[in-house]
Amino acid sequence: MDRNLALEFARVTEAAAIEAAKWIGKGDKNAADGAAVAAMRTRFNHIDFSATVVIGEGAKDEAPMLYTGEKVGKGKSPVMDLAVDPLECTDSVAYGRYNAMSVIVSGPKGSLLHAPDTYMEKIAVGKDAKNAIDIDATVEGNIKKVAKALGKTIDEVTVVILDRERHKSIIEQVRSAGARVRLITDGDVAAGLATCIAESGIDMLMGIGGSTEAVLAAAPIKILGGGMLCRFKPRKESDIKNIYAMGVKDIKKIFTCEDLAKGKELTFTATGVIDGPLLEGVRFNKDRIVTHTLVVRGISGTLRYMTTHHHYH
Ligand code: FBP
Repeated sequence: MDRNLALEFARVTEAAAIEAAKWIGKGDKNAADGAAVAAMRTRFNHIDFSATVVIGEGAKDEAPMLYTGEKVGKGKSPVMDLAVDPLECTDSVAYGRYNAMSVIVSGPKGSLLHAPDTYMEKIAVGKDAKNAIDIDATVEGNIKKVAKALGKTIDEVTVVILDRERHKSIIEQVRSAGARVRLITDGDVAAGLATCIAESGIDMLMGIGGSTEAVLAAAPIKILGGGMLCRFKPRKESDIKNIYAMGVKDIKKIFTCEDLAKGKELTFTATGVIDGPLLEGVRFNKDRIVTHTLVVRGISGTLRYMTTHHHYH
């Protein structure tokens, strides 16, 4: 992929993050999301490329912008697929909580799983523990193996879990195994990727989260050498239909990162809206707006952090 395009995507997530951050704490998640979506779409349409949104804001009849199937870009090439979340963690912004960001994953046509909006069970770890995880093993069994692979004692392993009623049993099992639990209100894309970044202090992600978020996290986890295993966990009957309709043949299949985001020509770009385990949020200073962005490129395997100072317009 063109290196310059990676920088263009940073401009897109920066613009979306700034617009979303203006809504921090105002209690209106739809307004926050809408602002991010509009900014992202406008910026995409300034870029000389031709892309199809394969994961976006939902079906065309539900979402006017960045819907599944929408074409963006003002050029003919390069042709690519996009998985986007203009605002990952809408509630965190609405209520001024932790961990929200604007995210883009790009890849060649056909490289990203067209996951419907449902749940997946997930387990993610960084490079050293990649071969230690098994989605069918017990929580304790996974933690023991991951601890060994990381050269840590069990009480040094930190597992991040979404703070949800459905995770009550996993949380208890992690605690009784002797590992640390970090509960987050939202944001398992950042939490999954954080397992690949030693300074984050997060060793594992476990639990059930969004399936579209699984695709977003898979690309950078794979590029950074980590591992994630996922399996659909439909919430309702119509989810099952949607999963099959998207071309998935075996609903019980265990997906690896490669199944979710294929090949090497992938990019992941994220700008923090509110501080999280990966990125600081947007700062509105007196003269400048400061954003923090992370770009991961599949071809080179680089992880790049960018701090950008923007003029107020
Ligand atoms: P949204 O921004 O779409 O609300 O997603 C936030 C999030 O926490 C994701 O990171 C996670 O995968 C999903 O929601 C979990 O879903 P739920 O809130 O239904 O438990």
